[in-house]
Amino acid sequence: MDVEYLLTATRSARKALDLDAPVDLADIRECLRIGLQAANGSNQQSWRWLVIADPALRAEIAELYRAAYLLRVGGQLIADLVPAGTPEGRIMSSTEWLVENMSRVPLLVIPCYQPYLPRIEGDESFHQATLYGSIFPAVWNFQLALHTRGYGTCITTLHLHREVEVRRLLGIPESYVQGCLLPVGRLRAGQTFRPARRRPVGEVVARDGWAGPAL
Ligand SMILES: Cc1cc2nc3c(=O)[nH]c(=O)nc-3n(C[C@H](O)[C@H](O)[C@H](O)COP(=O)(O)O)c2cc1C
Repeated sequence: MDVEYLLTATRSARKALDLDAPVDLADIRECLRIGLQAANGSNQQSWRWLVIADPALRAEIAELYRAAYLLRVGGQLIADLVPAGTPEGRIMSSTEWLVENMSRVPLLVIPCYQPYLPRIEGDESFHQATLYGSIFPAVWNFQLALHTRGYGTCITTLHLHREVEVRRLLGIPESYVQGCLLPVGRLRAGQTFRPARRRPVGEVVARDGWAGPAL
């Protein structure tokens, strides 16, 4: 796969996932090996990645994910209220499709991380940056590796509104933080992605200070 295509068109796969195609765990293991090559704080690698294949566990997590989503949107699905065909409409439709189908996605992957540095006063920003910065580079590497092998996923964080329940369900120790929830499956046959629509560099990059000229 062309590297620039891979880097610009590794998209959030939801409806693009083939819910009926079995996942080869050897492929997932290989993608995780590549994912774990990513930078992480002091190379502590104090992570544990949970790969959930058991259908009963997936169903319970999907239920919690749905409850979390409904909590955020006021109790009922809202995609139908957003004009179809608009970028917002497409995201909402895709997001709610995942809410409805999470239990059918063949694998759910949850990267967990144990903060390892002693805390000092006023270190909140440093703590959060080190913590999540030790998870998401590996998540992105994992996404890229999946894409090259015909698999897809989508970073999701909604389940964290039910993180305690998920912690109990999976036996995650209190000292570990869940970074996100990655629903993983094969991409549907023939599925390709276009590069993502993002704001232009000139609009979001400033030189020599916040108010400086664009690059
Ligand atoms: C930190 C983060 C949290 C996200 N949480 C969710 C989520 O809970 N559910 C979901 O369906 N998508 C989630 N997404 C996916 C975004 O909606 C998606 O990346 C965005 O719409 C851009 O689409 P693209 O990745 O296809 O370019 C999340 C993405 C990021 C980076």
